[in-house]
Amino acid sequence: MSTTTPNPANTGTAVGSAATPLLQVDGVTAFYRDLQALFGITLKVMPGEIVALIGANGAGKTTLLRVISGVKQAAAGSVKFEGADVSRVPAHRMVARGVSHVPEGRQVFPFLTVRENLSLGAYTSRARASMKQSMEEQLALFPRLGERMNQLAGTLSGGEQQMVAIARGLMAKPKLLLLDEPSLGLAPKIVDEVFDKIQSVRQTGITMMIVEQNVVSGLSIADRGYVIQTGTVLLEDTSSNLLKNEMVRAAYLGL
Ligand SMILES: Nc1ncnc2c1ncn2[C@@H]1O[C@H](COP(=O)(O)OP(=O)(O)OP(=O)(O)O)[C@@H](O)[C@H]1O
Ligand SMILES: [Mg+2]
Repeated sequence: MSTTTPNPANTGTAVGSAATPLLQVDGVTAFYRDLQALFGITLKVMPGEIVALIGANGAGKTTLLRVISGVKQAAAGSVKFEGADVSRVPAHRMVARGVSHVPEGRQVFPFLTVRENLSLGAYTSRARASMKQSMEEQLALFPRLGERMNQLAGTLSGGEQQMVAIARGLMAKPKLLLLDEPSLGLAPKIVDEVFDKIQSVRQTGITMMIVEQNVVSGLSIADRGYVIQTGTVLLEDTSSNLLKNEMVRAAYLGL
C-alpha cells in the first residue's frame, strides 16, 4: 500500500531544488513552564512525502506539531518551511504560508453546520478567494459531508466529525497538512475509511505529517516514520523497515 515515490504534483512546490525539504526541524526543545516536553528534535519532511510520528502517550508528538504550526514556540532550535526560518512565525501566519494543523480530538465547532465549519477553514485571503472551488473539492473527497452540509457538526458521528476536521484543514489550501491522531476513538472500519481518505489527499499533491498510535495503519500509508520517545527521536527509518524493527514490534505492536 505504501509508496516511496514522491507525488510529482508536489515536487514543484519546494523553493530551490527538489532536494530542499518542505519542512526541516533542527534541535527543537520546548517547555510547559518548567516541564521540558521536547529535548532537541531533528527531522525533515520532503515534498510529497507522508511522514508518520509514532510514540507512547506523553512522548511529545502533539507538542512537536504545535511547534511546527506556530501554536507553541520552541525554546531552542529552528523550524524551516520551504527553506525559510519560521521558528518565530505565529500560527495564523503559518496557515497563510501553507501549514494546516488538524488537532487531536476531532475538534469541530459543534454548534455550527458542516458548511460553516468548512468555511472557517478558508480564512486566509488566498483560501477565501477560491472558497467555492475548495468546497467542491472537499465534497468530492468526502461525499458523505455533502449530504450533511446543513447539519450541526456536533450531531455527526465520530468518523464524520473527523472528516469535517480534515476537510476544514484542507480548506486552507495547505502544502503541509499536520494530522494529530486522525484515527483516535474510531471503530476499525471507520479507521480504514479515514486512512483511505488520507491516501486520496496525498494524490492531490499535499505533503503530510501524521501522528498515529495506530502504528501499523499509520506506517502503512507513510513513506517514512520517526519514533518519538520522551521528547527525542529514538529511531527514524522507512516505514517498511520500522514495521520490521524488533524494538518497534515489541514496544508498539505487542509482538
Ligand atoms: N498544556 C500543557 N501543559 C503542561 N504540560 C503539558 C501540556 N501539554 C502537554 N504537556 C506535557 O508535555 C508532554 C508531552 O505531551 P504531548 O501532548 O506532546 O504528548 P503526545 O506524544 O502527543 O501524547 P499523546 O499520545 O497522549 O497525545 C507530556 O508530559 C504532557 O504531560
Ligand atoms: Mg498527542
